[in-house]
Amino acid sequence: MQRAAYTTDSLVKRWLRHRLKCRAPLQVSMRPYSVFPPVDSEEKKMLDRMMRVDHAGEYGANRIYAGQMAVLGRSRSAPLIQEMWEQEKKHLKKFDEILAVNRIRPTALLPLWNVAGFLLGASTALLGKEGAMACTVAVEESISEHYNSQIRTLMEQDPDKYVELLKVIKEFRDDEMEHHDTGLEHEAESLPGYWLLKNAIQLGCKFAIYTSQRI
Ligand SMILES: [Fe+2]
Ligand SMILES: [Fe+2]
Repeated sequence: MQRAAYTTDSLVKRWLRHRLKCRAPLQVSMRPYSVFPPVDSEEKKMLDRMMRVDHAGEYGANRIYAGQMAVLGRSRSAPLIQEMWEQEKKHLKKFDEILAVNRIRPTALLPLWNVAGFLLGASTALLGKEGAMACTVAVEESISEHYNSQIRTLMEQDPDKYVELLKVIKEFRDDEMEHHDTGLEHEAESLPGYWLLKNAIQLGCKFAIYTSQRI
């Protein structure tokens, strides 16, 4: 009996020593991670609008790349398109999380962006690799500009307060700019009617941004 108590005691001491040594946390916080600082109701409304449209944009981007892969999935450009799509999946996952944690409803227009995004990706890919890349340049330029305007707004409001959110948006803006440059490097501009197509797509992006903030 004496021997068993001694053994248990030494095991507890050894376990504690081990926990201290590897600095393992003894408690796990149950509070969900949020990039939102504590805000008042007006600020919350502004952030909700921002996150709703960002989520819609990333959702649309995912559908565009899905459409491109449906057409060019067996072509030489497939790995390049897939690589950009994987980053879009990460972006969408992040905004899915932000919406869930902060109880923000997504735009009611998601079913429309589901179909429109896929059709845009597939139809431009039918023009060939250059068509897909022209679409990428147009969309990614619009999304980068949109993120830049959000960054300006948050910086003007309070850069310290929104530091976590700014980090996320800046990182995604950099990814979108990389996608834009990839499109240019892969002969987007050599598509006949490039400027016409680019302007038409960007007009569509402006409409999508305007409506997704409000509906
Ligand atoms: Fe993205
Ligand atoms: Fe992108």
